[in-house]
Amino acid sequence: MASRVSICSCIFFFFLLIIFASATSESSESASPSGESVLTLDATNFSETLTKHPFVVVEFYAPWCGHCKNLAPEYEKAASLLSKHDPPIILAKVDANDDLNKELATEYEVKGFPTLKIIRNGGKTIQEYKGPRNADGIVEYLKKQAGPASYEIKSLEDAGNLIDDKKIFVVGVFPELSGEEFQNFTMLAEKLRSDYEFGHTLDAKLLPGGDSTVNQPTIRLFKPFDELIVDFKDFHVDAMEKFLEEASVPVITIFNKDPNNHPFVIKFFNSDNAKAMLFMNFSSENFETFKSKYHAAAEHYKGKGISFLLGDLEASQGAFQYFGLQEDQVPLIIIQTKDDQKYLKQHLEPDHIAPWVKEYMDGNAKPFKKSEPIPEVNDDPVKVVVASSLLDVVFKSGKNVLLEFYAPWCGHCKKLAPILDEVAVSFGGDENVVIAKIDATANDIPKDVFDVKGYPTLYFSSASGKIVRYDGDRSKEDMIEFIQKNRDTTGEETTADQTTDSVKDEL
Ligand SMILES: *[C@@H]1O[C@H](CO)[C@@H](O)[C@H](O)[C@H]1NC(C)=O
Ligand SMILES: *[C@@H]1O[C@H](CO)[C@@H](O)[C@H](O)[C@H]1NC(C)=O
Ligand SMILES: *[C@@H]1O[C@H](CO)[C@@H](O)[C@H](O)[C@H]1NC(C)=O
Repeated sequence: MASRVSICSCIFFFFLLIIFASATSESSESASPSGESVLTLDATNFSETLTKHPFVVVEFYAPWCGHCKNLAPEYEKAASLLSKHDPPIILAKVDANDDLNKELATEYEVKGFPTLKIIRNGGKTIQEYKGPRNADGIVEYLKKQAGPASYEIKSLEDAGNLIDDKKIFVVGVFPELSGEEFQNFTMLAEKLRSDYEFGHTLDAKLLPGGDSTVNQPTIRLFKPFDELIVDFKDFHVDAMEKFLEEASVPVITIFNKDPNNHPFVIKFFNSDNAKAMLFMNFSSENFETFKSKYHAAAEHYKGKGISFLLGDLEASQGAFQYFGLQEDQVPLIIIQTKDDQKYLKQHLEPDHIAPWVKEYMDGNAKPFKKSEPIPEVNDDPVKVVVASSLLDVVFKSGKNVLLEFYAPWCGHCKKLAPILDEVAVSFGGDENVVIAKIDATANDIPKDVFDVKGYPTLYFSSASGKIVRYDGDRSKEDMIEFIQKNRDTTGEETTADQTTDSVKDEL
């Protein structure tokens, strides 16, 4: 059976797409490095390369993935700039879609594309790459990753070079650079260096604010939002990690074209919380009113399993596409839960914010389902199904339906299309068999009925409502045989079985 491809439609890539586009267009240098600076690796020479180089960045990509294609020229340019760095920083790539490299991809926990890993010391330490995706940003981030995990701050100048008011910076203040606290801090810095920047000092007066009252080991967190400086004094490694995790998330995450906000947007999407997102035009005159009401709601629900983002319409086209929203619906709030339920309140007034968030938190909001419009003309052999017609076409029609879940960018789906056409044509005279397809990236799919983890995925629903997955060969003959074997004769009254009932509930 043809290999399945994993889904790369994770939402923050849609956000990054926009940031990325603006980052590249601002860079005036021409990106035409000569030759290939990025090493191409596969399962045969992967570990050999890691042994040879103590610091390697590996991009796991798939040939069909658009974000990988966007990254490629920037990655190549960064590799060429970094080839002169001392010690060497090696940038490599692995085609994770190639069967030869599937095991590698599993070993490195590749779940979406592109995935970038920083691999040190022959594979002893593996960290997620969490830096920017434009050439200059990649270079700057990786130079830091290749240096010490924590820099010693010995002068006001050191402090000025490292700490600014646009990013998070973590400083350990110690009476001496030894002892258990210092060791634990160093361990923490090693562990989380791809997430945060770290420094340490013997003299708190050197730090912004010039505070001389610190007289015991202290972690001081500088951040560009909310309370700006936070101290912490528990040096248990887990406690420090938890502190950083919580303190580094703003009450509301701002999403606009400013790349300084980008790391917080990534954090927002990586969180396990439910996600509330208010989208509006930041230039509209009542923006400050919205912002302060939204901030109040976010403060109120802090620590209650929900995070808040405020997104500028101008930067949010990707998100609108992802959720199937229109610009004329703003100001709007959409809440997405961990299990991908969505709740929407559109044409919002500032005074709607608090009551509506409360309605959601109290479990009284109604979910919203993403659907393409029902097509007006649908007379090709393979019928187009959308989320809002799924119930009628598949479950209530009393017909035998073979349904393909596809993604517009998926190569295996394109290969399957003419075969599905032939299957549909061969059942052309048969009223009781329908061959249909649904764009699973543009329509919400009932997850407890269909397990769609890759494209294409095929399901068969018999006239009496029995649902089975089609895992056979993707050939015309096998699919026809499968349909013939599993179909029910219609016409006789069949009582809808439990599957159909649960589907109706879900829809
Ligand atoms: C690894 O092997 C592949 C072919 O199997 C080759 O194309 C590639 O250049 C090799 N990479 C290195 C760094 O030797
Ligand atoms: C250092 O971290 C370890 C592991 O979390 C912990 O057991 C120990 O108490 C910590 N030391 C101090 C001084 O907090
Ligand atoms: C946002 O509002 C400003 C001012 O009213 C307007 O000029 C701009 O076109 C709007 N942006 C979008 C994306 O609608």
